[in-house]
Amino acid sequence: MSDQQDNMVDFDPMSPEFIQDPHSVLHKLRDEAPIARSDRWGGFWAVTRRSDVVALAKNHKQFINSITHIVPGGMAGKTRPLMHADQPEHTDFREAMLPVFNGPLGERIAPQIRAHAEGLVSRLVASGKADLERDYAGPLMAYTLTRFYGMDNVDPADLDRWLFQYFTGGQKREQGEVSDAHAAMMKVAVDLVEDRKVNPRDPETDLVTALLQARPHGRPLDEEKLLGAVRQPFVIVWLATSHSVGNMLTRLVEDTELQDKLRRNPELIAESLEEFLRLDMPQLGFARTSAGDFEYKGKLFRDKEPIALVFPAANRDPEVFENPDEFRIGRSPNPHLTFGAGLHACPGKAIARAVVLAALESLIKGTGDLRLNTAIEREHWPFRASRHIHVDVAAPGLTASASDNLASVS
Ligand code: HEM
Repeated sequence: MSDQQDNMVDFDPMSPEFIQDPHSVLHKLRDEAPIARSDRWGGFWAVTRRSDVVALAKNHKQFINSITHIVPGGMAGKTRPLMHADQPEHTDFREAMLPVFNGPLGERIAPQIRAHAEGLVSRLVASGKADLERDYAGPLMAYTLTRFYGMDNVDPADLDRWLFQYFTGGQKREQGEVSDAHAAMMKVAVDLVEDRKVNPRDPETDLVTALLQARPHGRPLDEEKLLGAVRQPFVIVWLATSHSVGNMLTRLVEDTELQDKLRRNPELIAESLEEFLRLDMPQLGFARTSAGDFEYKGKLFRDKEPIALVFPAANRDPEVFENPDEFRIGRSPNPHLTFGAGLHACPGKAIARAVVLAALESLIKGTGDLRLNTAIEREHWPFRASRHIHVDVAAPGLTASASDNLASVS
């Protein structure tokens, strides 16, 4: 077994170099130190090869979710199922929720989501200018959440505002902003739970009713944890999906050749979906903690050491993906890990794929041109995302006016 010093690399995911060009840093890390330990930010491991990421993600007894929620940085909030729960609690909640994720709800809400996307696009075209993050990706995901949960009395614009505040507050480490947004969203979760207690809906298509009616060991689920399981997906779903869409749109405004190609051949958009998902995953690392000392490939993970599973690096592993940085329409096979692996793998992936596709198709088919008019600022770890994407928008058949080819900046 190697000494801890042998694994040490000087990896700082908060450095300007990493924020500007994370994949160059990750390529180097994956080639030279695929299981690396950094002493930055209190010390953490970063795992970057696809095979190792899968092995650790599947070893849920050793690498647990309940202790540290963001690695590095050490931020830990309340342990809310699903994402931050371990066995056996995780299974109790996941089994109660899975039928809703896998049932008819997704197909039922898909046409509403597409119609909403098309309505947003019409507004962008009418205005001629847009921030594709704040006027399109965020609002579309907030609307999706209201449909997914059957939130009949929540204005999607409020939800979008709270989620944006929660996200930007977290990025700036402004605890007050995060807490205020959390309180507003918690009230939504409490109202939903109280409503479904007296007005239960079909548990096959209503997540809150399904949780309230679950009896995993002959008993109801713990009420506080149940509230957490209702509230937590607001954040993870909005962050993952709006920023996936944002990253894909960033790619399209930076790669105008690809944008033109998809515009001329809209049938290629669906064929490109998996490649967009593989390359544009917004969550850079998912947190695990070692439960006890554990040796893996000659490395010693010590008890309670935090580990970042760097899924986007695994998605560009040259052992698995030929020319991994190349956007290859119809790449096959395409075994990316954008929806995770193991027990915590994303249960919402079918809905996510449908929303992302609706967002891309509605925008490309409903516009003639999208041109960046302000340089993009990047968010930092644990996200690869743009806060704003300011563009000129042309109607179908037209070209946008101001279109200096602006480069992204960090
Ligand atoms: C493109 C958008 C999305 C991406 C890239 C994504 C990705 C992921 C990933 C990688 C995980 C696993 C995290 C881990 O291993 O720690 C996860 C978990 C999760 N996702 Fe998604 N997701 C997306 C959209 C959605 C949507 C639309 C929903 C719900 C409708 C959803 C619900 C969840 C939930 C509840 C979990 C926690 C699962 C658990 O811990 O058992 N996600 N997602």
